[in-house]
Amino acid sequence: MLNTNLAPVNAYAPNRRNDDVNGITRVNIGSGTSGASGWFNIDNSPTIPLSRIPLVRRIPRIPAWPADVRRHDVRKGLPFNDSSVRFIYSSHTFEHFSWEESLRVAKECFRILEPGGVLRVVVPNLTLLVGEYLRDRSPLASHTFLARLSLSHTVFDLLHPGANHSQMFDESSLLHLLRLAGFPNPEVMAFLQSRIPDLGAVEPEARKRESLYVEAQR
Ligand SMILES: C[S@@+](CC[C@H](N)C(=O)[O-])C[C@H]1O[C@@H](n2cnc3c(N)ncnc32)[C@H](O)[C@@H]1O
Repeated sequence: MLNTNLAPVNAYAPNRRNDDVNGITRVNIGSGTSGASGWFNIDNSPTIPLSRIPLVRRIPRIPAWPADVRRHDVRKGLPFNDSSVRFIYSSHTFEHFSWEESLRVAKECFRILEPGGVLRVVVPNLTLLVGEYLRDRSPLASHTFLARLSLSHTVFDLLHPGANHSQMFDESSLLHLLRLAGFPNPEVMAFLQSRIPDLGAVEPEARKRESLYVEAQR
């Protein structure tokens, strides 16, 4: 069931979209400013509309958002028809949702993927962070660890829900989430190891050391 304010994308003439290459729709959830061409890039940052106002975008704290990033809160649903998308990518975004929200988003991914379609979710790897904390001999290792989890919430969350983390994943919890969403066989992958072709366009190398990569096929 489509649950969003955005019109279903596939209701438009599909082959005229530059993010709908050869009739294959690829969706990038929480793209940040690194939205790649050939992908339908979604992000909910309040700075997206501001960056499109000529004078306002000169303010240093307003990032330069690429024109093809659409502002949308994916917790409200994904603006695609059932079984209409081939690939979904999401890097360092699922941890910005509560567990319940992430399950709703994962179920939406399952709904919009065509049979055989692939969801790839990349998150900060809690197991790696804990390992680094345990090896850190400095007196404030505990503080460094908690700061890296970025789990604090402030009044600014009202402006940008999802600015900070709301949960952290390890292999078990991320695989469990995707199974609960309906994916039969989610599996742990490595950086750029994927069923998604040309992944290098969206998978940031800068995240390689800290990330957990999981992929699931519909
Ligand atoms: C840490 S950034 C990751 C950016 C990029 N994918 C990367 O790996 O570098 C997380 C992004 O998710 C976006 N985000 C958080 N909650 C969101 C939501 N509910 N709907 C859409 N985007 C969201 C944020 O605005 C932010 O740009």
